[in-house]
Amino acid sequence: MRAALLLVLTVYFVSQCDGGELSSLCTQPPSKWCSSLDTAIQCGVLKQCLMSNFTRSHPKEDPVQVALYYESLCPGCRLFLTEMLFPTWLLLNEFMSVTLVPYGNAREKPDGQKYVYECQHGEEECLGNMIETCLLNMTEMAFPIIFCMESSTDVLKSAQSCVQLYSPQLSWDTVMGCVKGDLGNQLMHQNALKTEALNPPHDYVPWITVNGVHTDDLQQKASTSLFSLVCGMIKGTKPEACGGSQNKHYRSYCHNK
Ligand SMILES: *[C@@H]1O[C@H](CO)[C@@H](O)[C@H](O)[C@H]1NC(C)=O
Ligand SMILES: *[C@@H]1O[C@H](CO)[C@@H](O)[C@H](O)[C@H]1NC(C)=O
Repeated sequence: MRAALLLVLTVYFVSQCDGGELSSLCTQPPSKWCSSLDTAIQCGVLKQCLMSNFTRSHPKEDPVQVALYYESLCPGCRLFLTEMLFPTWLLLNEFMSVTLVPYGNAREKPDGQKYVYECQHGEEECLGNMIETCLLNMTEMAFPIIFCMESSTDVLKSAQSCVQLYSPQLSWDTVMGCVKGDLGNQLMHQNALKTEALNPPHDYVPWITVNGVHTDDLQQKASTSLFSLVCGMIKGTKPEACGGSQNKHYRSYCHNK
């Protein structure tokens, strides 16, 4: 999705600056414009390519890692996910990596080759956890879909339309194939292992770790303002959203005389 956005911006810049005329040297399709320095120059998009390479190089360096251990129907989890985590990720997404582990206070028991799960808020919650777990394995749009579900009145009933909205090419049957099959069962087992491996062990949900660490202080700060916490932890140049580098643009006012 980010690539598509960059492409749109690139096309926009090109049409702005060159009156829509591409140099005849530019023989590559737009998706290849940033693939080398030469192509970027020939296609007149060097600045844009350098900028996009610059912003894209951040996540590989040192994103702040935020992990949320939660369960699909716990009210506090829903609130944190929809009102803190998702908005923060929208603003800081290149500087932050998010891991969602839907399992929470569930329990598992081995049953032959599979596991059976028992969830704090019943069968429905197990189904919600499983749908979200499968989505996380099946689509890059999992987080927006999970946000859509968790912010709806009915987490389960909204699932299909949320998938349709954000990932129309992913069929509901495919999702349910995972949910009811061995893949979902195995993926949920991995969530159980991750949750049980927490150190210190979780004694409530939502349980937050930042760069792999959980303390009362981090949990407290994350629940009060995750955005400030993550901004404070970003190494090097901070994104403009954090108020790090003042952009002239924001200080250009039109006074009423
Ligand atoms: C952008 O990054 C890619 C991959 O790191 C590199 O191959 C390419 O030359 C870079 N493009 C420009 C214009 O710097
Ligand atoms: C999905 O799950 C399978 C089985 O555990 C794993 O091999 C694969 O890497 C996962 N894919 C993603 C995108 O998480």
